[in-house]
Amino acid sequence: MTSQIDYQGASAEAIQSHYDRGNDFYALWLDPTRSYSCALWQGPDDTLRAAQERKLDHLATGARVRGAGRVLDVGCGWGGMMRRLVDTHDVSEVVGLTLANEQAAHIATFADARYDVRVQNWVDHAPGARDGKAPYDAIVSIGAFEHFADFGLARAGRVAAYRRFFDSCAEWLPPGGRLALQTNVKGNNVKLDRKTVKDLLFICDQIFPESELPWVSEIFEASERRFDLVSARNDADHYARTCQEWHDNLVANRAAAVAMVGEQRVADYERYLRASVDGFRNRHLGLVRIVFERT
Ligand SMILES: C[S@@+](CC[C@H](N)C(=O)[O-])C[C@H]1O[C@@H](n2cnc3c(N)ncnc32)[C@H](O)[C@@H]1O
Repeated sequence: MTSQIDYQGASAEAIQSHYDRGNDFYALWLDPTRSYSCALWQGPDDTLRAAQERKLDHLATGARVRGAGRVLDVGCGWGGMMRRLVDTHDVSEVVGLTLANEQAAHIATFADARYDVRVQNWVDHAPGARDGKAPYDAIVSIGAFEHFADFGLARAGRVAAYRRFFDSCAEWLPPGGRLALQTNVKGNNVKLDRKTVKDLLFICDQIFPESELPWVSEIFEASERRFDLVSARNDADHYARTCQEWHDNLVANRAAAVAMVGEQRVADYERYLRASVDGFRNRHLGLVRIVFERT
């Protein structure tokens, strides 16, 4: 529950209804880094793990984290990026925010003093001062922005919610500090058939309640006067391939998954992952990786 009355994103309850479904269930079909976001693929023989690590490095490098004192991960999931920052990019301290209790419990199984995981909405985050420096040297956020605007908000409401996020990030970074953001977006193929409409409604109602994707233009509008654009790419096909792998892993481990969460939930996830593959292939959905620099 957030203390900010004007917060317009998904509630903690809505987030927990998706992510607090058992860490072992998600481990059955995610890769060992437990990345629950689009990978960055290279070539036909690539593996899901290698593609996820490449994604983490791509965003970490874009955010210029190497040797940083303190980095924030907004929507840290099961801590894959936090771990990568500490182990591979020599970051001294990483703060991760999630709304899911089970994710925080998983991070606690490997965290030492360099990790600070908080079950906290970014809206309520108060990082505190740091020896006269800005609170963070860099910020990353992967696959969380999708939850920052409630389903059904008008464009102006979504942009206002996103602007507040960019305002906070700008406040927490020094001039020249970078924010690496990866998020699903609405795709520009707006010709919807009946099956697609039904699948999208199913995903909004049953899989990711209280969440609606941004248009790319809304992200840029909300970041105006706060951040310069460094780079942006749309990797929709990469998310189609990622969702296909997750789907295939889930099917391969179906009996164990049913034993953990029941037949109905497994069937729901199979449908959601299949529909996502189609959505990214058909360009009803997009996947952007954007690096911003604080002005
Ligand atoms: C799809 S998961 C992505 C996790 C991770 N970044 C990854 O790539 O594997 C979305 C994450 O965003 C977090 N999240 C969603 N809304 C949030 C908010 N308002 N404040 C903090 N975390 C949030 C969820 O708790 C979850 O950890």
